[in-house]
Amino acid sequence: MKILGIETSCDETAAAIVEDGRTVLSNAIYSQIAKHRPYGGVVPEIASRNHVAKLPGIIEEALAEAGESFDSIDAIACTYGPGLASSLLIGFAAAKTLAQRLGKPLIGVNHHEGHLHSVFMKDDAPAEDEVFPMLGLMVSGGDSSLVLMQGPGQYELLGSTIDDAAGEALDKAAAVLGLGYPGGPIIQKTAEGGNPKAIRFPRGLEQSDRGKWVYKYDRDLCFSFSGLKTSLLTHVKNLDHTPEGDELCNIAASYQEAVCDALVIRVERALGRFPIKSFCCAGGVSLNKVLREKLTALSAKTVVPLLLCPPAYCTDNAAMIAGVACEKARLGKLGAEPNDVNPNLRL
Ligand code: KG4
Repeated sequence: MKILGIETSCDETAAAIVEDGRTVLSNAIYSQIAKHRPYGGVVPEIASRNHVAKLPGIIEEALAEAGESFDSIDAIACTYGPGLASSLLIGFAAAKTLAQRLGKPLIGVNHHEGHLHSVFMKDDAPAEDEVFPMLGLMVSGGDSSLVLMQGPGQYELLGSTIDDAAGEALDKAAAVLGLGYPGGPIIQKTAEGGNPKAIRFPRGLEQSDRGKWVYKYDRDLCFSFSGLKTSLLTHVKNLDHTPEGDELCNIAASYQEAVCDALVIRVERALGRFPIKSFCCAGGVSLNKVLREKLTALSAKTVVPLLLCPPAYCTDNAAMIAGVACEKARLGKLGAEPNDVNPNLRL
């Protein structure tokens, strides 16, 4: 089964063709980063205008790269949430129009499910019966969640951020330090050679408050990054100069360490609490070198296998959306076609 996936939940305009869930025939992406950089973050109106301008060409590119045509694909999949409403609407309208015009099914996909599926999009990905139940750490610019994955599409949220996402915390730190946008890769680069122990930034909800609840989630499996951000702001304000050189590297390294520790502490807790065969990490922040090292060390310590998302599919892309759609079709779980986008869609 070949599916055309469309992804426009934030500032990447993407289309891809995926065969049988894991074989990526094409993965076309137009990144709008340069358009948003002058504003230090994503501007929803600029994002949706660029989706309108670029999506038709990106869909054509995905078909051409795969050597396919509209006639040869079996279904159209698109992200219908969560994300920016005005961005989601562009991809959704395009997908719905194509599906109706071509007489092919429209498959709505949850963006977070897409990120989690992307850990399987590599040649040596293990078979499903080897990995489930699996613990998923989904860390992107818009969310940070811990997910118990019993099987494909059988996901239960164990905890999520109560304020900012990990990626957002890195993006905002880079803005405070005057380093530019997007912050994750710049903080990682600036942190190289810095001392991660130079400043003790808070790890957010640090104590194990097991049994205290945030909404319906156990508090000690939830994340919080707002205190960390304030702590950085206070640290910088208390300096009587703008940090640069080694001092800047030490701040970036210490901040990155705090973000990564906050994530890994929760993963370790959850690994000890549920009968899990493996764990995985996906989303834009999963590109982070220090996070990858810490998770790899945790895997060695706990002897629980780790699946890291292939770098090409960590940030937003449409291959992961088409991949989930293929899985849904394979398992006969297509459900009703979505009528509308849902910016607050949950797993
Ligand atoms: O998954 P993604 O494209 O966004 C959403 O779906 O929301 O991830 C974007 C996020 C941004 O916050 C960016 O700063 C972060 O991923 N990011 C990184 C790295 N590369 C991108 N964070 C840490 N280290 C990186 N190397």
